[in-house]
Amino acid sequence: MEMTVVEKQKTIQVLNPISQKGLDYLGEDYQVSEDAQGAEGILVRSYNMHQFPLPENLKAIARAGAGVNNIPIEECTSKGIPVFNTPGANANAVKELVLTTLIASSRQLFDGIEWAKTLSPNNGPIPKQVESGKKQFVGKEIRGKTLGVIGLGAIGAKVANDALELGMNVVGFDPFVSVDMAWELSRSVRRVYDIETLYQDADYITLHVPLNDKTRTMLNKDAFQFMKSDVHILNFSRGELVHNSDLKEALEMENIGKYITDFPNEDVLTMKNAIPIPHLGASSQESEENCAIMATQQLKDYIETGSVKNS
Ligand code: MLT
Repeated sequence: MEMTVVEKQKTIQVLNPISQKGLDYLGEDYQVSEDAQGAEGILVRSYNMHQFPLPENLKAIARAGAGVNNIPIEECTSKGIPVFNTPGANANAVKELVLTTLIASSRQLFDGIEWAKTLSPNNGPIPKQVESGKKQFVGKEIRGKTLGVIGLGAIGAKVANDALELGMNVVGFDPFVSVDMAWELSRSVRRVYDIETLYQDADYITLHVPLNDKTRTMLNKDAFQFMKSDVHILNFSRGELVHNSDLKEALEMENIGKYITDFPNEDVLTMKNAIPIPHLGASSQESEENCAIMATQQLKDYIETGSVKNS
């Protein structure tokens, strides 16, 4: 009589909802669970894992996203657990939202919409009231203006290239010199090697660097003092890159123009001229699928073959 050996399914713990297209990639040999019991891999998006007890049999963690600051990297390194991320998989989604909000902010769209919602039929015909908004919300076109891009990785390079297409001048700063090749940055981006030049020249500044000990609170009062007083700053990277109380003061004193952030906290919500966005940079269907597929591929490859393509 022939014996069939039924292999036990491997368990992947899923800490955030992850696109089904990614989970499907795991196939029948795997079961996904919210539970840590027996988990060999973890799939995570934004869940903060710093106080999280790592499962005993854990072999690897994959983050469906670029930043890994929600993962205890040092603990993982000391336990020999690789951490994978998905650089580039959500770059188009983030780039589109950066450029959308850049134009929207420059054209005073956010303020205009807020104001339009306050119109009331009791104050006369709405169409007449709407027309008075034209005087209040005169914006600026971005064509011919200068965009400073800090960090020229997967997202920053895409933002820089498309901003050039929109007729902007682009100044780029990145401490790593090889990025032109890595991310096919346009030669028309003016690279500067001291960040103060970027601060001085830019009408708009967008942040695309990871959060680490060198970049934490890099935008602080020392940085703000170099900037134009009507500069719009866009932060689709991490909230902690900006020093909160210095930012509050700079906005209140009108030393800077606007702060558009994908990472609003209690302070930002009360700040004058801050535009809070609820962490939507990577939230497109396409990006969620791309990230989930890339993350599960890396996790599965590592568990099955020990191959490390990115960690
Ligand atoms: C990222 O680091 O790529 C984003 O934070 C991803 C996300 O929105 O989860």
